[in-house]
Amino acid sequence: MASPLTINPFDAALGAEVTGLDLSNRLADETVTAIQAAWDQHLVLLFRDQAISDDDLVAFSRRFGDLDEPAVNPQGKPYHPDQPYINVISNLTANGVPLGNLGDGEAVWHADMTYRENPPKGAILHGLTVPPAGGATYFANMFAAYDALDADDKALIANKVAIHDGAHNSAGMLRKGYAEQTDVRNTPGARHPLVWRDGDRKALFLGRRPHSYILDMTVADSDALLDRLWARATQDQFMVRHEWRAGDVLMWENLRVLHKRDAFDPASQRVMHRTQISGDPAA
Ligand SMILES: [Fe+2]
Repeated sequence: MASPLTINPFDAALGAEVTGLDLSNRLADETVTAIQAAWDQHLVLLFRDQAISDDDLVAFSRRFGDLDEPAVNPQGKPYHPDQPYINVISNLTANGVPLGNLGDGEAVWHADMTYRENPPKGAILHGLTVPPAGGATYFANMFAAYDALDADDKALIANKVAIHDGAHNSAGMLRKGYAEQTDVRNTPGARHPLVWRDGDRKALFLGRRPHSYILDMTVADSDALLDRLWARATQDQFMVRHEWRAGDVLMWENLRVLHKRDAFDPASQRVMHRTQISGDPAA
């Protein structure tokens, strides 16, 4: 039987909307294969109008691999104790205590949890409550960003390795159990190559700019090169902007895509639930 889904690429450097599916159903294997192929090609997929439970989100996510538990957050305990694989991204509080991560401020460009040796290869985010304005999410294609570098920079970064900060979340909040460092050479977190190979394609792998450091360079030279790479990687022609509607499910390739978030009105509410798909330890 033909798969019911339709793939509609965005008019952008990455991303596509997938229509024709109800993610609360268990999908046929051939449908999952088609989604995976579209994901590999477009890097970010959007499914609109999904009325799914947390169990549905976890079940759908598991079709694409094992799941990682959320990163340590500033509270030091899970936001969703009943669902250990779901991270809650929200500005809501109860008695002054955050009920989710990242608050209402801007989240800078980053990939998720790259301070781990084996960061998640993808994430799936379900928008439950969405503010009337603000809080848009942006994605940037790091294949395209690498391809557009000039030959000198490609040669310069070919064998360079950078530290990916594990002490702060993407809103700049210190995670529980970490201390501030004043010297980026002491930043805690995994070291990853600046260029990751995917078959015969290459992608920039930057993680997040704050507290990053390129090994075997002076701090000044590392900062200058990182600033240049980041400025080039986050140009408009490599990105797509997503305005959320309640019921949106977005899945992104975490190792070849950067994302960031706009701030939004603190008086409005935003609640999102996210899963993280484990990376391949052999990759
Ligand atoms: Fe993120």
